[in-house]
Amino acid sequence: KFFKWLWRATYLSAIGGLIYVGYGIFEMRHPPDQVDPDPSKKTLVILGTGWGSVSLLKKLDTENYNVVVISPRNYFLFTPLLPSCTTGTIEHRSIMEPVRNFLRHKKAAVKFYEAEATKIDYEKKVVYINDESEIKGDVTSTEVPFDMLVVGVGAENATFGIPGVREHALFLKEVNDAQAIRKRIMDCCETATFKNQDPEEIKRLLHMVVVGGGPTGVEFAGELQDFFNNDLKKWIPDITDNFHVTLVEALPNVLPMFSKQLIDYTEKTFKEETITIRTKTMVKNVTDKYIEAESAGPDGKKQLEKIPYGLLVWATGNAVRPVVKDLMSQIPAQKDSRRGLAVNEYLVVKGTENIWAVGDCAVANYAPTAQVASQEGAFLARLFNQMAKTEALESRLKELSEAQETAPNKQARDEVFTNIKELQRQLRRVKQIGPFEYSHQGSLAYIGSEKAVADISWLTGNFATGGTLTYFFWRSAYLSMCFSTRNRILVIMDWVKAKLFGRDVSRE
Ligand code: FAD
Ligand code: NAI
Repeated sequence: KFFKWLWRATYLSAIGGLIYVGYGIFEMRHPPDQVDPDPSKKTLVILGTGWGSVSLLKKLDTENYNVVVISPRNYFLFTPLLPSCTTGTIEHRSIMEPVRNFLRHKKAAVKFYEAEATKIDYEKKVVYINDESEIKGDVTSTEVPFDMLVVGVGAENATFGIPGVREHALFLKEVNDAQAIRKRIMDCCETATFKNQDPEEIKRLLHMVVVGGGPTGVEFAGELQDFFNNDLKKWIPDITDNFHVTLVEALPNVLPMFSKQLIDYTEKTFKEETITIRTKTMVKNVTDKYIEAESAGPDGKKQLEKIPYGLLVWATGNAVRPVVKDLMSQIPAQKDSRRGLAVNEYLVVKGTENIWAVGDCAVANYAPTAQVASQEGAFLARLFNQMAKTEALESRLKELSEAQETAPNKQARDEVFTNIKELQRQLRRVKQIGPFEYSHQGSLAYIGSEKAVADISWLTGNFATGGTLTYFFWRSAYLSMCFSTRNRILVIMDWVKAKLFGRDVSRE
C-alpha cells in the first residue's frame, strides 16, 4: 500500500512539475500588452546588460520611471558556465538570454539601444552612445539625457601593460572569447598533426598555457584537461603524448580567495590530472610563439625563461573601462579611487547625487563577482521602487495639506487630518530602507575530472568541501541560478548531449 501511495505521489508531482514548466514556457512566449514609457516621468538610464543591470531590471517597477537601457550586448550572459563553452560541454547560446525577451515582460515598456556608452557627461547629465555593431544606419552616434543614471558596465581584461598580451593571447570574458578559444584548441590539434610537422613544433602547438590562477584560469584549465581526456585523445590519438596544460600564477598558490584546504585539494587534483601548475611565476612578455616568465631558480635567484605555447589564455583579472575612467576624472571625490567608481553604502557614486554604480565597475569593498553584482542590482531596484513611492506619497501629502487649509468645516478638516496621518505612517514605513548589505553565500569553482570546490557560508560559519559530490552541488546550484527555464533546459540538454555523444571536435 505504501508503494502504491509513493508511486501516486511521484506521478502527481511529475505532472505538477510539467504543468509548472509548461506554464512558464507559455508565459514566456505570450508577453502581455505593455504601457508605453511616460516621458513626463524621470528618465532612468541603465548602462550594461550584465549581472548588476539585469538584476536591477528584473525587480524594477518600470511604471515609475522612463527607463532606457544601453548596452553593446543585446543579451545577458550567465558567466559562471562560460568556461564550459570553450570546449563545447555547453553551447554558448544556452547561457545567453536576449534582453528583449525579459524587457518585453515588464509592465511598462523599456527603451533598449544596442550601443556602447562612449562618454558620460556628469555636468550636462548626458550619455554619448555609439553603434559599434557591423550594420550601421545613417545615425551611428547620439546622446541620451538622464535624470538618474546606473553604471553597470563591468570591467575589461587586465593586462598590466605587458607587451604582446593584447596581440597574441585570448581572453575569457565574453561569448566570442569562448568561441575563439574553442576554435584555437582545434586548430592547434589539427596543425600539430599536419604532415611532416617537426617534433618540437608539435610540442609547442599542443602546449596549452593559461596565465592567472584565479577561478577563471583554474576552471578553464580543468575544462580543457577534461576535453582532452574524454574526447580529444580518443578522436586524435596522435596528440596523446604531447598535449599538455600548464597554469602559470604569479602568487605562491592558485585560488587565493579559497580556504587553504581547498587550495591544496585543487593543486593535488591538478597533479593527478597531469596539469602543471607554475606558481611564483610572473609573465613579463608575450610573443606569438612563447611567453617570457620570471621565476625563482633553484638557487633563489630570479630567472627569465621562455615557455613556448600553441594556445595562450590570459585570465589575470579586471581593469577599469575607459568610459568609467573618464567619468571618474570629472568628479573630484573620485580622484583617489583606482579600481573603479567609489560608491557609498547606497551605491551612489561618491561626489554625485544622481549616479549609482553596480558590479565590477563599482568599488564597494566586495570581490568583483556575479553574486555581489546581482545583490547590488536587486538592492537598487528596491531603492528606486521605494523612491518612487516616497515621491508619490509626498506629493499626495502636499495636496492634502492644502486641502486641509481650505476645508469648509471641522468635519471635513478632521477627515483630511486622518488621511494625512495614515499617509505619514505609510511614508515612514516606505522610507525605512537601510543601506546595502552583501550576504555572502559562498564560493564555488569547477576544477575538472568531475570535481568542484566550495567554500559555503552557513549561519554558524564556513564549510569547505571538494570532490565529486561538490561537483553535483556545483551543477545544481548553477542550474538553479540560470536566468530562465529556457536556459535551464538547454544547459541540461547540453550536458546530456556531451555525456552521450562526447564533445564536438569540429573546428568552426
Ligand atoms: P558584466 O556582467 O560584465 O556586464 C557588463 C555589461 O556592460 C555587459 O552587458 C557589457 O556588454 C556592458 N558594457 C560594457 N561596456 C559598455 C559601455 N561602454 N556602455 C554600455 N554598456 C557596456 N562570479 C561569480 O560570482 N561566480 C562565478 O562562478 C563566476 N564565474 C565567472 C566566470 C568567468 C569566465 C568570468 C569572466 C567571470 C565570472 N564571474 C563569476 C564574475 C562575474 O561574471 C562578474 O563579477 C559579473 O559579470 C559582474 O557583473 P557586472 O554587471 O558588473 O558586469
Ligand atoms: P583573479 O583576479 O581572481 O585572478 C587573477 C590571477 O592572475 C591572480 O591570482 C594574479 O596573481 C594572477 N596574475 C596577474 N598577473 C599575472 C602575471 N603577469 N603572471 C602570472 N600571473 C598573474 O581573476 P579571474 O580569475 O579572472 O577572476 C576575476 C573575478 O571574477 C574574481 O573576483 C573572481 O572571484 C570572479 N570569478 C569567480 C568565479 C567563481 O566564483 N567560480 C569564476 C571566475 C571568476
